[in-house]
Amino acid sequence: MPTPNEILIELKKVKYPGFTRDIVSFGMVKDIEIAHKGVVVTLSAPSANAEVVAQIVEDVRRTAAAIPGVPAVDVHMEQPADTPKMAPGSHRRPVPGVRHVIAVASGKGGVGKSTVAVNLALAMRAAGWRIGLLDADVYGPSVAMMVGAEHRVELTPERRIIPLESFGIRYISMALFVNDETAVIWRGPMVTKLETEFLFNVEWGELDCLVLDLPPGTGDAQLTITQRVALAGGVVVTTPQEIALMDVRRGVTMFQEVGVPVLGVIENMSYHICRKCGARHEIFAHGGGARLARDLGVPFLGELPIVRELREGGDYARPLAAVRPDHPVTAAFRSIAAQIIDGLKRTEA
Ligand SMILES: Nc1ncnc2c1ncn2[C@@H]1O[C@H](COP(=O)(O)OP(=O)(O)OP(=O)(O)O)[C@@H](O)[C@H]1O
Ligand SMILES: [Mg+2]
Repeated sequence: MPTPNEILIELKKVKYPGFTRDIVSFGMVKDIEIAHKGVVVTLSAPSANAEVVAQIVEDVRRTAAAIPGVPAVDVHMEQPADTPKMAPGSHRRPVPGVRHVIAVASGKGGVGKSTVAVNLALAMRAAGWRIGLLDADVYGPSVAMMVGAEHRVELTPERRIIPLESFGIRYISMALFVNDETAVIWRGPMVTKLETEFLFNVEWGELDCLVLDLPPGTGDAQLTITQRVALAGGVVVTTPQEIALMDVRRGVTMFQEVGVPVLGVIENMSYHICRKCGARHEIFAHGGGARLARDLGVPFLGELPIVRELREGGDYARPLAAVRPDHPVTAAFRSIAAQIIDGLKRTEA
């Protein structure tokens, strides 16, 4: 009988229907057990679509059964006890005019999620995609500030919100509609409800991709958005510290539990390059993001150094990926953008 690891390697041949990527890299294989009667493969519930599930189960069964020495195969669907059930009547809505919606999440705050979302959006724009960016964080006006949203938001005659435009991308910040007093009222479950409504009330026009900068964390608010908006994929941002890495798991699980493909993990503030000598300093034990992504069976999209220009770009509304096309970190963002675009194109195939 082969080992679980050998079986896992074989299961990489099973593609997620509609993708060129396999179910192992999507993190769907939760467990492989060798029982004396045969092999038991446990999969995470991938999607609400029964046809897709049935096909994956069949492909896994066939692939595992074809391995020499495997007498029988049983495929289980994991239904974790804490899997949030979709509220009755709730369903995932596509955003009109928008081809793909992706969400950028992080397990904890302050890891540079908004910085990454902004520069990633700009790098996707540089690749020729029409991009929108929604800052779904009511309490942190980061995105508006990072791209310089000083103008007033206007409405169409139908009272739909006209997004602002800067550096060739359309964006809107929830925070533009909230002052300190209303932020207090907005706290709690109402926020999420309003947030999803808000998203659909923006006149985005035609977009290739809308990037959602989710509020930090993986609580109810984030989960509700992932359940109400038809997401093409999720991206998880982390820093290399152990404490942040632990939360990556939660970020990845959040997407997987609601059947949203994880496009990958990005490690931010991964290392520091000395401005004087050009040497690379590993302030935290670096590489944890890549390792964890591998363990979780999701792609690792890249690592970004700590650079002053990235912070200054955010502070002075001169985002690096837009104003420094020659910068090595811009190149890193473009590489990440290319991988995401690639992943999204496959969802269309
Ligand atoms: N790679 C980096 N190099 C230097 N500074 C960075 C880098 N990434 C982020 N920063 C800076 O770190 C701070 C926090 O980043 P950011 O606001 O993007 O984090 P966040 O995860 O969105 O935070 P929050 O949880 O508050 O939403 C900002 O001042 C930002 O400019
Ligand atoms: Mg933020």
